[in-house]
Amino acid sequence: MIAEFNLDTNNEQIEEARTFLADLSGNPPELPYEPQILPGLFAAVGEGSTASTGDLTALIEGSPNLAAKILSVANSSLYALERTVTSLQRAVSVLGFREVRNIALMLGAASFLKTAKLPDGFDFLTFWRHELQTAAVARVLVSTLNGAGQSAGKKSPLCISPDEAYAIGLLHDMGKVFLALRRPRIWRAIEELGRKENLSFAEAENLYWGMDHALIGAQVMHYWRIPLTLTDPINWHHAPDMAPSFVPEAKLLAAANILAHDGLDEKGDLPDAVFVLMPEGVDREKTAQALHPVLTGAPAVGFEEFAG
Ligand SMILES: [Fe+2]
Repeated sequence: MIAEFNLDTNNEQIEEARTFLADLSGNPPELPYEPQILPGLFAAVGEGSTASTGDLTALIEGSPNLAAKILSVANSSLYALERTVTSLQRAVSVLGFREVRNIALMLGAASFLKTAKLPDGFDFLTFWRHELQTAAVARVLVSTLNGAGQSAGKKSPLCISPDEAYAIGLLHDMGKVFLALRRPRIWRAIEELGRKENLSFAEAENLYWGMDHALIGAQVMHYWRIPLTLTDPINWHHAPDMAPSFVPEAKLLAAANILAHDGLDEKGDLPDAVFVLMPEGVDREKTAQALHPVLTGAPAVGFEEFAG
């Protein structure tokens, strides 16, 4: 389920919201590569996939833009390879399928920030840093939680992998960008409302027109044919308890979002607001320790490569 309105908002504004969602569906934001590439990449990394490096290379060759980015990331300082990677096939095998898919997502997300005309006052560098930080935190959280579940002999509490967690972290607030690009006047009005009433952006959006950027982003990603396991948690990252499905994953994304904004508490522990979102039986201390490097270390990986 994608749309969910807060019915306390007045009818005119709900109508405005409905019209916006209809416009987005009728004329959705386009990725900077052919539309079949992203679903192809998700299928290639999915369970039971038999795709080979050659298959993936052939798919990516359909987009010179993406192929060039993959080569440049494979040759960037992130991988510190001894020899220059000159062929796309070699780059795909060095990076791995999942990394290639995440590069495609990053390139897609960054294209709206860099090439589109965002309204004055939209701080895209802060926005991008937050997306990358949430992604990095979400990846560590899933690795730790899945590891904790396994060592206790229990089933993994989450149905997403660490790199899928990275993907949802990366995309979770993209709805703000689509709102700012397509309805700059409303984006500005919501910003002002939030400032005046001392509300978070999501609270101000809900007050303004009964929906938030989480829903807007999920609707676009639905069109991009990103699987529901990822779009649902994005849709509900500000109200994970209300999610109709994938509740633990929505809570995980909500927790990563809070941690990326606020970090650990003053004692270096998981804040209470984060702990309540964790699956039952989580080791609070171990989780905080695992998060420490990503929350206190160097700026998020991928910032230079995509925001520069
Ligand atoms: Fe958000």
